[in-house]
Amino acid sequence: MSIAVVSYSLTSNNGALAAAVAKALSAEHVKILEEKPRKTGAIILDMILNRTRRVQPLASELEKYERILFIAPVWMGKVASPLRAYLKHLKAHPQPYAFASISGGALNTNPELADDLEKRAGAKPIAFVDLHIADLLPPEPKPTMKDTSAYRLSDAELSKLAGVIAASVKNAMGL
Ligand SMILES: Cc1cc2nc3c(=O)[nH]c(=O)nc-3n(C[C@H](O)[C@H](O)[C@H](O)COP(=O)(O)O)c2cc1C
Repeated sequence: MSIAVVSYSLTSNNGALAAAVAKALSAEHVKILEEKPRKTGAIILDMILNRTRRVQPLASELEKYERILFIAPVWMGKVASPLRAYLKHLKAHPQPYAFASISGGALNTNPELADDLEKRAGAKPIAFVDLHIADLLPPEPKPTMKDTSAYRLSDAELSKLAGVIAASVKNAMGL
């Protein structure tokens, strides 16, 4: 079965995780790239104005694969905006997909994330793994957004979390 791990990452965590998961699944790793380097202001505007940016490779790339696993951060409680063109394509050309993310989790557990994903992709994912950096840190003092934003996953954490995602996806895809 041809599987693509399609990832977006601004500060490297989801990209490194996606590389490790792609290796574990013997899947192709497709990295979503933007035309311009992204600043925080552009993130906030995308989320508020519901903008879909142009990205490379084109979303039609998804049609080459039988199964897709998206790995990307959560921004302002929702799926990071660079994934939107891909989720829109999936809605028009339905195909089974899975979703995984490592986000901060300092404020809450992103209760709107699953609904946002389903609304944009037009269907629920066959596997959904929502990981939080706050769970990797000591509970006291309570991790702040500043702590989680500055955190970069270690090699040991990448290997462990990639194993969790790969197991969930293998189970869902019958691999
Ligand atoms: C503008 C912005 C908004 C964010 N909003 C959230 C959020 O709503 N919930 C959350 O858990 N993490 C949030 N984060 C934290 C990222 O999801 C987290 O740092 C993640 O590891 C970044 O992934 P990356 O290194 O692959 O870019 C936000 C980060 C940024 C820069």
